[in-house]
Amino acid sequence: MEIIILPDAEAASATAARLVARQVLEKPDCVLGLATGSTPRRLYAELARLHREDHLSFAQVSSFNLDEYVGLHAEHPASYHRFMAENFFDHVDLAPERRHIPDGMAADIPQHCAEYETRIVAAGGIDLQILGLGTDGHLGFNEPGSSLASRTRIKTLTPQTRSDNARFFSSETDVPHHVITMGLGTIMATRMCLLLAFGKTKARAVAQSCEGPVTASVPGSLLQFHPRAKVLLDEEAAAELTHADYYRWVYNNKPAWQKDQ
Ligand code: GLP
Repeated sequence: MEIIILPDAEAASATAARLVARQVLEKPDCVLGLATGSTPRRLYAELARLHREDHLSFAQVSSFNLDEYVGLHAEHPASYHRFMAENFFDHVDLAPERRHIPDGMAADIPQHCAEYETRIVAAGGIDLQILGLGTDGHLGFNEPGSSLASRTRIKTLTPQTRSDNARFFSSETDVPHHVITMGLGTIMATRMCLLLAFGKTKARAVAQSCEGPVTASVPGSLLQFHPRAKVLLDEEAAAELTHADYYRWVYNNKPAWQKDQ
């Protein structure tokens, strides 16, 4: 796990965008794992700018989103289908037939989840997975207690997550209780993870994920076992890290060639 602390969310998002762009340039038909929430918004905006101004092309890229709410139609304002269209897909050239998001309206959810996993494998596996972090340490919608080996499946949200996400809905009662999410095993099978966390509300979950024991009670902590995970933080999200000064020193003294690796 490489922990990179940058002055603010803007700088961390720009660094994340450089890493994603490098992946796309190195392997134009790569498979990206995509996340939703407030955290990756700036990253998507920067990728859209790179597409617009520097001709970064996603034409051959495939994408798989982490999760979706059960019972929300793709056109629902709070659906992750809608989020992805508004924040990323409408601004880049990623082919519609290569965009994948779990279908919250699927009639047979277990079958849909199994097919989602099959599609990821058929695409060659996820090269780079973008992740945010819940205030309770969740990845995707893998709430505390999720099996560390889990695959795409239905999950029940915790009251904390429903309250955290209520801001995207008219009221908290409108937040669905159930979601479809890639599992922790699915995330661990990706070749590289970029976890982004910003703001003081994430500081505890960041410290537990990066420096605490690996436990299903803090799903983010499983990334300590990932062979290639980078954690991009602003100063507020890094506030509870014990070894923050060491991480800063390591990053600031990396040889230039290694910085974007
Ligand atoms: C949501 C998403 C996660 C996201 C997290 C943090 O519930 N399912 O993928 O990482 O919560 O959200 P935010 O970035 O808005 O803080």
